[in-house]
Amino acid sequence: MTLELKNIVETCNAGVHKNESHYKQVLQALSEKYKIGETFEKHGYLRNWMLAERYYMYLLAYSSLVSDKNILELGTQTGAGTVCFLYPGRRVLTADVNTGHISKEVLMEKNILVRHLRNADECTDFKFYDFDTIFVDIGHDGHHELRIHNELMKQKFKGIVLWDDIELNEEMELFWNKIENEKIETNWHAACGFGIVKYG
Ligand SMILES: C[S@@+](CC[C@H](N)C(=O)[O-])C[C@H]1O[C@@H](n2cnc3c(N)ncnc32)[C@H](O)[C@@H]1O
Repeated sequence: MTLELKNIVETCNAGVHKNESHYKQVLQALSEKYKIGETFEKHGYLRNWMLAERYYMYLLAYSSLVSDKNILELGTQTGAGTVCFLYPGRRVLTADVNTGHISKEVLMEKNILVRHLRNADECTDFKFYDFDTIFVDIGHDGHHELRIHNELMKQKFKGIVLWDDIELNEEMELFWNKIENEKIETNWHAACGFGIVKYG
């Protein structure tokens, strides 16, 4: 990963702005293939998940921009974010404490590996250095996010971490303010906040 954070954000923003209808079509195709909308409804999440489409468009834009081979997602839920990271030649490992809400089609995708975590603390139990990009979207208590950040530093992780919901609550704001690495806040997740941090 040699791209600068500013370039990443500007390129993704411009891409989504310019190619909105293309990204919408890609999301709709992914939704049909992996039955994302159905899975959202089945588990009582946002009835029309495509209302959050701009957020997923930014994930798609990021996914197509970087040449990363190994992506780790912490917090799978339905797998809507996971499928945005699929790209030819790429493997996505996704982990959640509750793997019961993941779309069956996502579970069957050969380029996605799902790991069930036995408890919330296992979110740090990874060889983070094996990955290029890590997307963290877990319980938003700030505590587990900070544990992950500290573990990334301990392991001398080199790459990019996408942190969702950095403005969701006071705990997440405190967590975000503690990060001293090069970082940038984006408008990718409206009022919830979405931050990108460079490690290494
Ligand atoms: C907001 S959802 C993830 C949404 C998903 N990333 C997407 O973009 O569609 C948060 C998920 O994190 C899981 N979770 C909460 N705390 C966790 C932890 N400590 N480790 C792993 N998963 C966790 C929850 O079970 C839930 O499925």
